[in-house]
Amino acid sequence: MVVIPFQNIMEDVERLKKEAGVAACDFIKDGMKLGLGTGSTVRYTVIEIGRRISEEGLNVVGVPTSEATRKLALDMGIPLVTLSDSGGLDLVIDGADEFDNDFSLIKGGGGALTREKIVAQSSQSMIVVADDRKQVKTLGKFDLPVEVLPFEWERTRDQISLFCPGDVTLRGGSEPFVTDNGGYILDCSFGPSISEPKSLEMKFHSIAGVVEVGLFVDICDAVVMASNGNVVTLVNDSGRLN
Ligand code: A5P
Repeated sequence: MVVIPFQNIMEDVERLKKEAGVAACDFIKDGMKLGLGTGSTVRYTVIEIGRRISEEGLNVVGVPTSEATRKLALDMGIPLVTLSDSGGLDLVIDGADEFDNDFSLIKGGGGALTREKIVAQSSQSMIVVADDRKQVKTLGKFDLPVEVLPFEWERTRDQISLFCPGDVTLRGGSEPFVTDNGGYILDCSFGPSISEPKSLEMKFHSIAGVVEVGLFVDICDAVVMASNGNVVTLVNDSGRLN
């Protein structure tokens, strides 16, 4: 048996994130209005955009999907605008926690899912950056993040528990994680069983107290996926890049 040291695995994953994040910048054209996603993979995209602005004179503006990305983008010298001032975006690049063969996504591992969905729905196209660990046959092994109002969140949790087969857990427990919007996150353990993500998304939306659910359906046009040895772009045949 060959034992690979944990540190080497982490370095490999970080390298893949960087490769995917940087490769996605090939889709960026001068003059574009960009949605800037949140997370440790798209972080490399934001850094690369900043490099291209300062070294190559790339002319773009961005709308960040979180306060963390806002700070990073400003540090990188990326001009920012509000969504309403932008008049609509050309492209959003963002990470994902899982994607399936239909290009449906679970997002929200970083807690930014609501802003991420608002920005994605305001963009002409969406590209996801990921390493190949995120590719799944059926969504749900990664606990599904749901942003909820703090007000009577236990009642919202109980409503979700009526159809979620596993635990519904308040992120952060006794010291709840608070989103940029002042919300809480419930992590819902469905297991790899989400074969109808659109109808599940609707179910969540019928519950008062749910702000947004981390299911992104019919919105991702391509995934730039890094695996050991290469980076491939998986294009959604039903997407908008065709
Ligand atoms: C942020 O809320 C998330 O949707 C991230 O985009 C997602 O969790 C992927 O993040 P990583 O690239 O850090 O895995």
